[in-house]
Amino acid sequence: MFFEPSNGMRPSPLQHNPLNALVCPRPIGWISTVDARACVNLAPFSYFNAVSADPPYVMFAPNAASPEVEKDTFRNIIDVPEFVVNLVSMELAQKMNASSASFSSDIDEFDACGIEPAASTIVRPPRVKQSKAALECTLYESVQLPGGADGRKSHVVIGKVVGIHIDDDLIVDGRVDETRLNAIARLGYFNYAGLGEILEIRRP
Ligand SMILES: Cc1cc2nc3c(=O)[nH]c(=O)nc-3n(C[C@H](O)[C@H](O)[C@H](O)COP(=O)(O)O)c2cc1C
Repeated sequence: MFFEPSNGMRPSPLQHNPLNALVCPRPIGWISTVDARACVNLAPFSYFNAVSADPPYVMFAPNAASPEVEKDTFRNIIDVPEFVVNLVSMELAQKMNASSASFSSDIDEFDACGIEPAASTIVRPPRVKQSKAALECTLYESVQLPGGADGRKSHVVIGKVVGIHIDDDLIVDGRVDETRLNAIARLGYFNYAGLGEILEIRRP
């Protein structure tokens, strides 16, 4: 089939927006932020990736909850322009998912979901203590994308990575062993995947 998104993202026979299942697997950035009163927030974003390795920059894309209401994560970053990307290993999948519920902005998802925080080194938002790697970031730029038909705004938030935590157990022979990080990937719908088979392919 072929369709043009300007006519809607669910043309027959598709019952759901197919993009999540087409552009996958996606890594998950589990993003911690604070608001101006230092109230902490934690939520997962799979429209997330690294955009530059050196100097290191990352991006994620919060979609507004409604035409009037931005996600807490986005509002916090505009108020306090710092965030932490906590990487999600397989054993953290359930807690990561629990933190995606629509809590009111004065609820700290660390408390609500039984997730232990650890102080960050440079930025104000805490990190997830159990995450085997975390990227402390400052806001570089936020880009607003044109709104969709439902009027909800989307943003791309680009962060400069100013501090990197790596669990020493991940480091083997001077390299991070991805199998020890065992990051979970987001697929379409409610599906997730582990690392699966790993191939080493040397460049020509
Ligand atoms: C695995 C996963 C990935 C998600 N990715 C995104 C995303 O990329 N963008 C987005 O706007 N919401 C995403 N969500 C939904 C948010 O996590 C959810 O709306 C959350 O309540 C936002 O919290 P906040 O209002 O505290 O920022 C995702 C949820 C899950 C479970």
